[in-house]
Amino acid sequence: MNTAKRRTVIAGNWKMNFTPAEATAFINAVKPLVAGKNNCDVVFCAPYVTIAAAQAAAAGSNIKIGAENVHFAEKGAYTGEVSAQMLTACGVEYVIIGHSERRQYFGETDETVNLRTKAALAAGMKVILCLGEVKEQRLSGVTDEVVAMQTKLDLKDVSAEELKNVIIAYEPVWAIGTGLTATPEQADETCGVIRATLAKLYGADVAEGVTIQYGGSMNEKNAAELLSKVNVDGGLIGGASLVPEKFAAIVDAAQ
Ligand code: PGA
Repeated sequence: MNTAKRRTVIAGNWKMNFTPAEATAFINAVKPLVAGKNNCDVVFCAPYVTIAAAQAAAAGSNIKIGAENVHFAEKGAYTGEVSAQMLTACGVEYVIIGHSERRQYFGETDETVNLRTKAALAAGMKVILCLGEVKEQRLSGVTDEVVAMQTKLDLKDVSAEELKNVIIAYEPVWAIGTGLTATPEQADETCGVIRATLAKLYGADVAEGVTIQYGGSMNEKNAAELLSKVNVDGGLIGGASLVPEKFAAIVDAAQ
């Protein structure tokens, strides 16, 4: 983390977990554990149907509630999708876009990730843009090329001004939900490649201000070491975001 230059963000990705009642109970349990931990922003991205319950439980606290995806059109014949206008009308500020599970299971491409990103930014939302290499790419030595390409394609036509509302989550796909974590050195190095790519696109000053999270089996045990790296500005946390004490310990590690 380099807290002089950029904001640290610890975000939970609940994925397809928690009913409204479960989300309420979770937020009520985690709220006192993260209260006053102001060295980072605390966000939970929730399934659409649990957002309202989570927001109600989080009201008046330092916890912000986001969504896990957003469509690129404002409205229309897109069965099952939700627009940025709908989310902002519900007071939702953050949205995850391009998570590897969306890319892997639901056909998302860099092109649709870019369209969704631009739509969310145009609506005034803050985007958590996920990218990262798969195992074969890491083993073949092309990780740097892969994350540089994703960064360029996913941010195509995003202005430097809009980039202020983008958080990048570097998530090596082989580390997500597997219990395998990138080493702090790997996380720092690849987050650094993403930052260098941003510097080429937007200039070094702009790139230095972008929050780049690490995601992939981050937990209460490995968080402090990962966050100690200069290019790792927070975490996007799946499994450990479902347990109040584990998530709170990661927030503590960011203080
Ligand atoms: P994990 O998930 O922490 O369970 O590996 C991270 C993510 O998918 O964002």
